[in-house]
Amino acid sequence: MNQQLIDKIKDLKKEKKAIILAHSYQNIEVDEVADYVGDSLYLSRMAAQTDAKIIIFAGVYFMAETAKILSPQKKVLLPRPESGCLMADMINLKQLRDFKSKYPNVPVVCYINSTAEVKAESDICCTSANAVEVVKSLEAKEVLFVPDKHLGSYVASKLPTTKIITYSGYCPIHHNISTTDIIQKKEKHPDAKVLVHPECPDNVVKLADYVGSTTGIIKVCKESTHKSFIIVTEKGVVDRLKRDLPEKEFILINDNAICKDMKRIYLEDIYESLLKEQYEIVVDEKIAQKALNTIERMLKIQ
Ligand code: 13P
Ligand code: SF4
Repeated sequence: MNQQLIDKIKDLKKEKKAIILAHSYQNIEVDEVADYVGDSLYLSRMAAQTDAKIIIFAGVYFMAETAKILSPQKKVLLPRPESGCLMADMINLKQLRDFKSKYPNVPVVCYINSTAEVKAESDICCTSANAVEVVKSLEAKEVLFVPDKHLGSYVASKLPTTKIITYSGYCPIHHNISTTDIIQKKEKHPDAKVLVHPECPDNVVKLADYVGSTTGIIKVCKESTHKSFIIVTEKGVVDRLKRDLPEKEFILINDNAICKDMKRIYLEDIYESLLKEQYEIVVDEKIAQKALNTIERMLKIQ
């Protein structure tokens, strides 16, 4: 690793009063300069709390946008602005309005993997770490859940008395993981525990020993006495587990479990981003205010 570059980034960070937030799917080298690494919920909380002047978000667009909404007075930078999320792009404002019009007066829960406009038009936000608690908190008979049909159906399995009407979106990376992948890995590693992200399809989730967010999965691996784990989410989680727990065995579910958008940012991009203060996230004020209500309502739930 380029220690000189790491040192330059650290110096610039101090000079500019910046912090770096990194999602656990990022290229692992980013951790060398990151202040906080974790899942979407953890990073949103950190973005809301920090007193830094600049937030560099090593993640994808909706994450940086969420950080900007939570900290409007700060400069939020996304080192590679083309880092999108295929799932977030599956629903836009018009599509959400059409969906809502079919179910008048039913509250809308939007997964954080969505645009600011979609958040602004929803009642409450959730992440994969708190989706069940968020839906439960509404105490509603019916709930619209956007955009992730798989996370929505996971929540439905946990809350059988709530009717959850899901939109048709999904994360292609998790959606393409199959039960055959799990069965094959289990054949080779019969003692391994199967840890699954809830963005995976129902039939995959059913084969899990544990279902949770990226931070949840990492926590289970750290705390468990087990030695071997099949990790059913994006490769970044496996890379970090192998680095942090070299005495244990981690098996990535398949070679395609890589999110290209999450892998765009390298140390060079972070350096350029800090130096030139690029690429700044801007959110329309009215949309930001409404989206903030949706996100803050979620953050109040423990
Ligand atoms: P979490 O960060 O909630 O684990 O979700 C994963 C994800 O898809 C981020 O894009
Ligand atoms: Fe979006 Fe899926 Fe990539 Fe997460 S892993 S950023 S949900 S495309």
